[in-house]
Amino acid sequence: MTKRTYLITGASKGIGYATAQRLGEAGHTVVGLARTQPNGDFPGPFITVDLSDRQATADALADITSDHGIDGILNNVGLVHPAPLEEITLDQLDAVLDLNLRVALQTTQAALPHMKAQSWGRIVQTSSLVTVGVPFRTSYAAAKSGLISFTRSWALELAPHAITVNAVAPGPVETELFNTNNPPGSESRQRYIDNIPLKRTGTPAELAAINAFLLGEESGFITGQTLYVDGGSSIGHAPS
Ligand SMILES: NC(=O)c1ccc[n+]([C@@H]2O[C@H](COP(=O)([O-])OP(=O)(O)OC[C@H]3O[C@@H](n4cnc5c(N)ncnc54)[C@H](OP(=O)(O)O)[C@@H]3O)[C@@H](O)[C@H]2O)c1
Repeated sequence: MTKRTYLITGASKGIGYATAQRLGEAGHTVVGLARTQPNGDFPGPFITVDLSDRQATADALADITSDHGIDGILNNVGLVHPAPLEEITLDQLDAVLDLNLRVALQTTQAALPHMKAQSWGRIVQTSSLVTVGVPFRTSYAAAKSGLISFTRSWALELAPHAITVNAVAPGPVETELFNTNNPPGSESRQRYIDNIPLKRTGTPAELAAINAFLLGEESGFITGQTLYVDGGSSIGHAPS
């Protein structure tokens, strides 16, 4: 099996960390980015950087690409800022769009020369179920919809180079991000679970499995797609 080198943003916890572990178990190297080091082992170099800082992101990516050819990326870092429509501040809107979209563009631009040179590459974006429409998530849903749009445009643009681009849209997954925005006992958490046909949240390991597949060798004929990994939520309601 070909050993690959992957870059993951938001790799210290949750979905990003679980995906890094899964890729590492398969023998790949992962370059991880987040503001803090992970608590556990990591299958490759880990760089601490605040990705909300445009220049710090550029500097980190320049260092990484001078040492590693990146074969695949999981654009996974995200920011939510839940708020009712009337209470959204423009600074919050900017911050949410910036961390979700600008970072994905920067990582992809940094990795593309190597992917194009070898005519092989994988890009996976962590989008979200909220793109189908969820109250109090205006900025976040716009940003995650933007990632789906990036996916479709880049899939076409990069197809001549055999680089595939796909999005994964998780429903509620038990991570720090989800638990912070939807604390146990909160109305939003109960609303999420009530609306999931499988009546449970997902696990980081379940997201890692699909990310690893889309980043791997066997997914080469899939591009431009968004896969909802959401317990059936994007389809509708199960009979009670
Ligand atoms: N959990 C869900 O229910 C769910 C559902 C749909 C989509 N998603 C999406 O899935 C992705 C991963 O979320 P998660 O649930 O796994 O969240 P998580 O457990 O909170 O992990 C978020 C990761 O992003 C890093 N991070 C956050 N802000 C950063 C910044 N400014 N600079 C660098 N790193 C930063 C965090 O590390 P540090 O704190 O160490 O920086 C952490 O590694 C996000 O894009 C999220 O929107 C999650």
